[in-house]
Amino acid sequence: MSIFKPVTVVTGASAGIGEALARVFARNGHEVALVARREKEMILLSNELAAACKHKPHVIVADLLRTDAPARIAHELLGRGLEPAFVINNAGFGLHGHAAELDRAEQIAMLDLNVRALTDLSLRWIDGIVKHKGGILNVASVAGFLPGPGMAVYYASKSYVLSFTEALARELEPKGVRVTALCPGPVQTEFQTRAGISGKPTGRLLARTAEEVAQAGYDGLMAGKRLVIPGFGNRVVSFLPRLLPRGMVLRSIERYQRGRGIRPDGWKRRPKP
Ligand SMILES: NC(=O)c1ccc[n+]([C@@H]2O[C@H](COP(=O)([O-])OP(=O)(O)OC[C@H]3O[C@@H](n4cnc5c(N)ncnc54)[C@H](OP(=O)(O)O)[C@@H]3O)[C@@H](O)[C@H]2O)c1
Repeated sequence: MSIFKPVTVVTGASAGIGEALARVFARNGHEVALVARREKEMILLSNELAAACKHKPHVIVADLLRTDAPARIAHELLGRGLEPAFVINNAGFGLHGHAAELDRAEQIAMLDLNVRALTDLSLRWIDGIVKHKGGILNVASVAGFLPGPGMAVYYASKSYVLSFTEALARELEPKGVRVTALCPGPVQTEFQTRAGISGKPTGRLLARTAEEVAQAGYDGLMAGKRLVIPGFGNRVVSFLPRLLPRGMVLRSIERYQRGRGIRPDGWKRRPKP
């Protein structure tokens, strides 16, 4: 018997899909630890969930761009007598524009969050996850199936998340650990503003709400699915490019991203005042 209580760690829980994921896990009886930089948003969420759910969520303020953040989170959990049984790697961001025109340091920071921190947190608590028969849910994207001119580094980072997560799922299957890659299509959150995306929101054929995506991720993880792509349209977008010439796929994505505010010369269009 472990002296530590099992906890579900959700990164990027202060907004968007992460907040919705924290709600779903808490509603289903999990003791949740919320992780992000914005403390006020997480305290509000924790108080709200405490009133409606079995456990009051823990709040851990951490900047996952810092290389020491995962160790600090582990230390905080230990101090509270908690051991991760489920890890939900959701924190991430994108940048819209041509890679050669975007800030290089910011693009490297994106890899630090989307790739390095996610990998560290996926591998850090495997023994505890095995012991609790828990799991890992990594938020990738439909972008992970595609090359992405107009968001080149972001799409590549999500390809990594998808490849790493599917391989990890296979490796940990014999140990009874569930590992799921959640691949949403467009979801209207703070993501678009952070990325610098302008233009009209994507239509309902592909777009889903954060709540729909979170529920699909939770259900998929619990059912032991390796891959979850919410929405039929997004499943088509993920599969079809495998049958098409790569050049055609690249041109289609380029057109799509231009429609969201990139000029043909690679520079971003200014949003209308
Ligand atoms: N929205 C979409 O269309 C879409 C589609 C496919 C996949 N995704 C993926 O879904 C995930 C969540 O995106 P979202 O749409 O919910 O975006 P969002 O609304 O911008 O939320 C991002 C979350 O990540 C946290 N975060 C950002 N930088 C962080 C850092 N340095 N340290 C710790 N936490 C950090 C933010 O919290 P703080 O700012 O408080 O730190 C926030 O809670 C991302 O991995 C994204 O790539 C999004």
